[in-house]
Amino acid sequence: MNSDVQIAGDPLALPHLMPPPAAHPATVAEFAGLARAIAADTASWAPLVRYDAVTRWYHRLRTGPGYEVWLLSWVPGQGSGLHDHGASSGVFTVLRGELAELSAHGTRHALGAGAQRVFAPGYAHEVVNDSLEPAVSLHVYYPGLTEMPMHRPPLCASAVRPSAVVTS
Ligand SMILES: [Fe+2]
Repeated sequence: MNSDVQIAGDPLALPHLMPPPAAHPATVAEFAGLARAIAADTASWAPLVRYDAVTRWYHRLRTGPGYEVWLLSWVPGQGSGLHDHGASSGVFTVLRGELAELSAHGTRHALGAGAQRVFAPGYAHEVVNDSLEPAVSLHVYYPGLTEMPMHRPPLCASAVRPSAVVTS
């Protein structure tokens, strides 16, 4: 131990010598960038992932001023049901595997690893793993998710009886 070393003064009184405060995202682009940065840092999330065949697994990975980052896993066949996110906006990124996102209007997006979707408050969708491999996704919500109202799914085309089809 070197007893000759002394610290003169209070280092906290010298703000110009302090490291800058951690930057937090404040725009949609910055939240999307945060999601991409976490996705690229596999060591920060991969060891945490669990798969649960009984119920969907999720883990709050990070929080910041007004936002939350969640890690979700999906075994084949698991899905969210059609829902919105209350007052929250969000960014959702596939980390591993493939997921399908279905909009309330029936539009389907096939999302492979690295694919990213951004949504505004009130946007309704359903996310499902209809592949044969497990999948992992990352979800950023701003503000943090406090409700996830479920919606009734739209009638799918196969539910329409042939007699209802009108031809000209
Ligand atoms: Fe969602």
